[in-house]
Amino acid sequence: MILSPSLLSSDFGRLADELAALEQAGLDWVHWDVMDGLFVPNITFGPPVIKALRGRSKLFFDVHLMIERPERYLHEFTDAGADLVCVHAEATAHLERVVAEIARLGAKPAVALNPATPLEMVDYLLPQLHMVLVMSVNPGFGGQSFIPFSMDKIRELKRRIRARGLSTLVQVDGGVCLENCRELVEAGADVLVSGSAFFSRPPYGERYAAFREAAEA
Ligand code: DX5
Ligand code: ZN
Repeated sequence: MILSPSLLSSDFGRLADELAALEQAGLDWVHWDVMDGLFVPNITFGPPVIKALRGRSKLFFDVHLMIERPERYLHEFTDAGADLVCVHAEATAHLERVVAEIARLGAKPAVALNPATPLEMVDYLLPQLHMVLVMSVNPGFGGQSFIPFSMDKIRELKRRIRARGLSTLVQVDGGVCLENCRELVEAGADVLVSGSAFFSRPPYGERYAAFREAAEA
């Protein structure tokens, strides 16, 4: 199980310190929620902020783009140092082209699906994808409740990946907490994103241990 803490719930005034603390706590990934105020109602940060922090951190930068027509900014995000770029299937009319372009730019391509978006949106693309992100809340804000049908969606996605002999990772984002992480991992989630449930209880080393223990119990 990989835990990717969502910086959306961190202290934006101390991002460099937050990244250092995550690294110190033994985490490998960090999740950046980029919001444009169009695809989702909220606005966060963009390529210049990610670029400024890239030099300060060795963490794997897992960049979740909640922006309309992500094709306009792919180069900016890979240039900023994103290791993985995840675009929403609902945000572009040319998903295959966007995925191929991310790979061409040297980052790992991933696609996110909103709760109501069917898995069929990524069926043809699975061999090209490093990861599929199953949104278990409607994107835009931290601290929302897990939508229960997401569990079946994760199970079915994992089944399709295995049936085709692929190694595409399954990520879940939204309402992940100590209480549901074991069931999520059993259903097939490889990467858990956690914002509020992770950052609300420092120190991060202990929080990370609690997640690992809960997921593997
Ligand atoms: C929601 C974001 C999530 C968010 C999760 O739009 O994509 O990454 O930070 O926050 P929690 O874990 O609090 O639901
Ligand atoms: Zn996210």
